[in-house]
Amino acid sequence: MQDKDTWSGRFAEPVAELVKRYTASVGFDHKLAMFDIQGSVAHAQMLAACNIISVQDLNDIKRGLGQIENEIIAGEFVWSLDLEDVHLNIEKRLTTLVGDAGKRLHTGRSRNDQVATDVRLYLRHEIDGLLELIRALQSALLDLAAQHTHTIMPGFTHLQVAQPISFAHHLMAYFEMLKRDAERLQDCRKRVNRLPLGAAALAGTSYPIKREYVADLLGFDGVCENSLDAVSDRDFAIEFTACGALIMTHLSRFSEELILWMSPRFGFIDIADRFCTGSSIMPQKKNPDVPELVRGKTGRVNGHLVALLTLMKGQPLAYNKDNQEDKEPLFDTVETLTQTLRIYADMIAGIKVKPEAMRSAALQGYATATDLADYLVKKGLPFRDAHEAVAQAVRFAEQRGCDLGDISIAELQQFSTHIAGDVYQVLSLEGSLASRDHIGGTAPNQVAAAIVRARNSLA
Ligand code: ARG
Repeated sequence: MQDKDTWSGRFAEPVAELVKRYTASVGFDHKLAMFDIQGSVAHAQMLAACNIISVQDLNDIKRGLGQIENEIIAGEFVWSLDLEDVHLNIEKRLTTLVGDAGKRLHTGRSRNDQVATDVRLYLRHEIDGLLELIRALQSALLDLAAQHTHTIMPGFTHLQVAQPISFAHHLMAYFEMLKRDAERLQDCRKRVNRLPLGAAALAGTSYPIKREYVADLLGFDGVCENSLDAVSDRDFAIEFTACGALIMTHLSRFSEELILWMSPRFGFIDIADRFCTGSSIMPQKKNPDVPELVRGKTGRVNGHLVALLTLMKGQPLAYNKDNQEDKEPLFDTVETLTQTLRIYADMIAGIKVKPEAMRSAALQGYATATDLADYLVKKGLPFRDAHEAVAQAVRFAEQRGCDLGDISIAELQQFSTHIAGDVYQVLSLEGSLASRDHIGGTAPNQVAAAIVRARNSLA
């Protein structure tokens, strides 16, 4: 026999099968089940504390919900499409188990404030998990960086060799990005962590409820202050997804670099075999599939952000069924971030660095030309004149097919009489790095200090 629709009293005919399937969300929102139960227990506790339901009812509700929780964990709970969503499925089962007490649970509550509460509880939980995963990735970056404060590679602008930097310095740039990503999530969490329950359908409820009590029970920092806003806005989900899009964007940039560095043309690193695949036709291939997929999956998270923004735009107050569509983009964003962060930390730990290839690339693009210009400035030449003199020297070296450091002192002096024997130290890669000796610079001692500060910040 089919379940009777919850609202069948009002309707002259049953909802069409096609419509049932179109409007049902239980296929995906069952993911909220544990949070739905958590919210219901707190709500019932408040109803009893305010003498809206009896202690007996509360105990029955708790017992029933406890059993439902076990059934769900054991995979024995039967989800019914006829019961539309996670909330009605659980409530129906509760009523079957404990009778009238189950029917009293929904007193002073609507699915509108219920679902908003569930999503916030879910998201708060997931944010805490993601923060842990970001820390693990940051820690993997620090472990790798600590070994490479003296490993010199070319730094690029426009993907052209610019100035020498250490590999550690490059890695630490991503540490900083992830640090801001974590800060953003922590900030977003504050706005997620507010209780909608008590808003009921939209206007509040006529029962003498205590919203702060429920907020305390559920660990919320406070209540949503306006009932219409509480049930209708999903800005917290949009904000979270924007944080997620930035995390993915950072990892996508990093991925692009790993892919380039692993290409034989660069040959700066090797990614462990377990993160790569071969080709079905070309026996020599080892493809960096994981970073490529991270780059690709960034597109889907960016898409979810646009989906949620579009979902919200144009909705009049208060709750509209449109909001049911918030879940799949949100769930998929969480899932994608979780998997990506987890795999990334492992992949970073397994990177094999090839310092010789990095060094020879740094020697190829006149990476110390700026150092020569700075040298001339320190000898009294105006910077623009120094720039011009060095440009001439680079042209000379290019024609001869050698590095700046290979030009004899007499030849260098054609470009400026300020040049003396001490110039060769400036032209060395090590000299170039060591001279950038200030906070944020690539000098090995500065980067080592940055790594120490970073480690402390994670502790
Ligand atoms: N399944 C719905 C959702 O996800 C729950 C709220 C439904 N409220 C309503 N008045 N139809 O948004």
